[in-house]
Amino acid sequence: NWTMLNIAEEAIEAIRAQVGGKRAICGLSGGVDSAVAAALVQRAIGSRLTCVFVDHGLLRKGEAEQVEKDFVAATGVQLHVVDAQERFLSALAGVTDPETKRKIIGREFIRVFEQAAREIVAAHSGEDDDVEFLVQGTLYPDVVESGGGTGAANIKSHHNVGGLPEDLKFKLVEPLRTLFKDEVRALGEQLGLPPEIVWRHPFPGPGLAIRIIGEVTRERLDILREADAIAREELSAAGLDRDIWQFPVVLLADVRSVGVQGDSRTYGHPVVLRPVTSEDAMTADWARLPYDLLQRISTRITNEVREINRVVVDITSKPPGTIEWE
Ligand code: XMP
Repeated sequence: NWTMLNIAEEAIEAIRAQVGGKRAICGLSGGVDSAVAAALVQRAIGSRLTCVFVDHGLLRKGEAEQVEKDFVAATGVQLHVVDAQERFLSALAGVTDPETKRKIIGREFIRVFEQAAREIVAAHSGEDDDVEFLVQGTLYPDVVESGGGTGAANIKSHHNVGGLPEDLKFKLVEPLRTLFKDEVRALGEQLGLPPEIVWRHPFPGPGLAIRIIGEVTRERLDILREADAIAREELSAAGLDRDIWQFPVVLLADVRSVGVQGDSRTYGHPVVLRPVTSEDAMTADWARLPYDLLQRISTRITNEVREINRVVVDITSKPPGTIEWE
């Protein structure tokens, strides 16, 4: 695609001009925006880019591997992985309130990212090619939403690192600032990124923590990850991936209901399927998924995930319901 080739080449030139001989760091979230931004900067400055991936343990099945293996293989990017799963789990222990979960995750994320950034900065301080830049996957709609300013004002959610301390002041590199999501996806394909990353549905920064209604524990995350993976797999197999805006699967971890699985009575948890269509997440409609697809998802989840004995579908539009349950 010629247009995308041009956009890519121009963006790469602009990055080279901006960064000069300095170094940059970039946080990867698992999503398409940070991945495409990083891939462009990697093309522009090669190993003078270091990516940081904070594994908070709240991603879906296979997503950490997509970043650590597939993205690295596709781009050759230098990746610094921080395994912070334990840290996030202990910080979330006992917490059930949605906004408190978000605050804790945002706070821990910034601390962990900051620490990694400091280490990378320190490794090159005093050199001519010291670390001066932070890459962000800010899109055009984010720019408009935040009043068109530059810098910290643009920062919308926790994995777009805002609020870094004074001694960690970076100049921002935002190669996607003029682009819309569909252009970013086309660019990602042009750059040879894995389709799972390019076509990933929007996913909230706090991840599965806000799709477990109740306390977040390792066991509950594992249960939800299995159910979610089945729902996504069946949606793709039905060829409906790109017709759906998002497909949250929500674990009602504090709710139990009676069921019968095999020949014994069970007392398990329900999961909620929340497939929605939307243009921009501001409003949404519940997706009319085919009954036979819902049937396959329900059968597989209750057969393959022992702890789940009931599957329900959320048929609330937004408003009044939000897309996420927390
Ligand atoms: P709601 O649930 O408010 O979600 O209809 C609208 C969109 O925002 C996403 N979302 C978040 N994204 N941090 C994020 O980065 C968050 O805390 C957060 N909460 C919701 C949600 O997935 C949907 O796309």
